[in-house]
Amino acid sequence: MSKIHAIITGVESFVPDYILTNEELSRMVDTSDEWIMTRIGIKERHILKDKDKASSYMGAKAVERLLAKTNTKPEEIDFVLCATVTPDMQFPATANIIADKVGIKNGFGYDINAGCSGFLFALASASKWIETGSCKKVIVVGTEKMSTIVNYEDRAVCPIFGDAAAAIMLEPSTEPYGVMDCLLRSDGMGRKHLHQKAGGSLKPPTHETIDAKEHYIYQEGPAVYKHAVIDMYEITKELCEKNGLKTEDINWVVPHQANKRIIDSVTQRLGVPPERVMINIHKYGNTTSATLPLCLWEWEKQLKKGDNLILTTFGAGFTWGAIWVKWAY
Ligand code: UT7
Repeated sequence: MSKIHAIITGVESFVPDYILTNEELSRMVDTSDEWIMTRIGIKERHILKDKDKASSYMGAKAVERLLAKTNTKPEEIDFVLCATVTPDMQFPATANIIADKVGIKNGFGYDINAGCSGFLFALASASKWIETGSCKKVIVVGTEKMSTIVNYEDRAVCPIFGDAAAAIMLEPSTEPYGVMDCLLRSDGMGRKHLHQKAGGSLKPPTHETIDAKEHYIYQEGPAVYKHAVIDMYEITKELCEKNGLKTEDINWVVPHQANKRIIDSVTQRLGVPPERVMINIHKYGNTTSATLPLCLWEWEKQLKKGDNLILTTFGAGFTWGAIWVKWAY
């Protein structure tokens, strides 16, 4: 029997309307467009301003658009896997809320939290459900309302993050396209450099945790930066060597959008020229679990059947990895 591959058959997104520019940020904290552009490469990011709407709202919008675009009925979906660090609630899983909002009733769903590697880890995991023959139509959605955990008084963090959602459809194929190979890694020691101090079972919310601003992102930027550059480069190199992929065989690198300088360092080390690297960080900032599918959505029209894509991420955990995808349409 020929091997079943998990192929991507569609991609859609939802980006909220409100644009938070570097100029507006410069009026909120001691920063400048020049500093943010030079050190991070972000010009603007989108923010979901509505207080009564959360990650599931954006995720459901992206999934609704995906169902329409791929001509799929909600009842055909077997599995919804949601990657997020900003779930609507601690429980239930945001995947289930999204499924309810779009009318997916015949399947199951759960969330993955792998920091900024959430979508990559979710894609790797979902592809196994397809490859084993257990599922026929799977939606992987990354959705983040990062603005709810960003301290807009902390200039080291507030320029970085934005809100957005994007989703892909995964289906089986016996042709050799889709997810070809994955390498995933994590190291919990990295938690000291990047975490949210309170709100979990270690430090439940109290007046003190709120006063101490411990429900916001805590990041030691330079330490995370160093690991991101080295680990994304090494895991991508390992994946390529394992599969006999040379630099010239890679049509596109799809990197996590955390810092333009990180993307440039990783891709220069790999020897992949800038015109083969998807970069949209200047428009959206770091949307955590939504960065990779947001790139796929923006570049979809330029992709050709058989293109070799290398997706790579680094995030809280630490978590990092690389996936080789052969584009299927
Ligand atoms: O997506 C999950 C994984 N996360 C990442 O990959 C993020 C990795 N880290 C980074 O991207 C960078 O470390 C940051 C963008 C977070 C920070 O950039 P940096 O070049 O590493 O800056 P730094 O933290 O070393 O700070 C350099 C200086 C400091 O001033 P002094 O101490 O040299 O006087 C900061 O106070 O820049 C200052 N600074 C700012 N200045 C103006 C920090 N933030 C700002 C700001 N505007 N927004």
